Amino acid sequence: MRIAVFGGTGGTGRRFVAQALAAGHQLIALVRDPAKAPPAHDGLTVLTGEATSDQGAVTAAVTGADAVVSALGTERTWQGVRAPTVMAEATARIVTAMREAEVARVVWLSGLGVGDTLAEVPPLPRLAYRALLSRVYADKAAGERLLRRSGLDWTLVYPVMMTNGAPTGRYRHGERLELRGVPTVARADVAAFMLGRVTSGDYLHKIAVIAD
Ligand SMILES: NC(=O)c1ccc[n+]([C@@H]2O[C@H](COP(=O)([O-])OP(=O)(O)OC[C@H]3O[C@@H](n4cnc5c(N)ncnc54)[C@H](OP(=O)(O)O)[C@@H]3O)[C@@H](O)[C@H]2O)c1
Repeated sequence: MRIAVFGGTGGTGRRFVAQALAAGHQLIALVRDPAKAPPAHDGLTVLTGEATSDQGAVTAAVTGADAVVSALGTERTWQGVRAPTVMAEATARIVTAMREAEVARVVWLSGLGVGDTLAEVPPLPRLAYRALLSRVYADKAAGERLLRRSGLDWTLVYPVMMTNGAPTGRYRHGERLELRGVPTVARADVAAFMLGRVTSGDYLHKIAVIAD
C-alpha cells in the first residue's frame, strides 16, 4: 500500500515507518525538519512542511495514498508549556486534504483518557492525566471531533502509557479493556497494531484501546 504518514519523526511514528517499510509498503512522510526524517529507504518519500498550517504540503503528502496514518503528538515549547492546538489544526488540514485527494482510510494515534475515556483510566494515571495533560487531551478531543464528523473511514487508536520497550506482540486490544494499576504498552506494539488496522480496515469508525 501507499501510506501517507504524519508524525513519522516521533517515537511511535518512526517505529511505524520502519515496520511499514519492512513489510514492503510505500510511505510518504511529511516532516517539519528534514534533519529528523527517518533513515533513507527506497520505499520512503520525505516531504517537508507544517502539518498544522501548510495545506499544500499536507495535500501533496496525501494525494495518491491508499491510507493515511497520524502519529502526531504535541511538542513542548521552549517555555516548557505544551502548545494546545497542534492536533486540532493538523486534523483540519489532513481531513481537508483527504477529501480533496479522495482518500478515505485514516488510522489516528490518540490516547486513552481523551474525551469520555478518561473514566476508563485507572485511578492513579487518571490523576496524572488530569493534572498534566488536560489541555493536550482537550486539543486531541477537538481534532477527533473533526475526524468523527468527517465522513472518512477513521480508526482512533487509544494506547495506555507508552514505553520504548521491544515489541512483544502480546498486547490486548478492544473497544474497552479491563485495566488496573499503571498499564503500559510498547510504542513498537502500537505501531504494529496501527499498521494492522491500515491493512485490515477493521475498527472502522471505532476506537481501539491497546495495552499489555
Ligand atoms: N507518551 C505516552 O505514554 C502516550 C500514551 C498514549 C498516547 N500518546 C500519544 O501518542 C502520540 C505519539 O506519541 P509519541 O510519544 O510517539 O510522540 P512524539 O515522540 O512526541 O512525536 C510527536 C510527533 O508529532 C510531531 N509534532 C509535534 N508538534 C508538531 C507540530 N506543531 N507540527 C507538526 N508536527 C508536530 C513531531 O514532529 P517533530 O519531530 O518535528 O517534533 C513528532 O513527529 C501522541 O499524540 C501522544 O499524545 C502518548
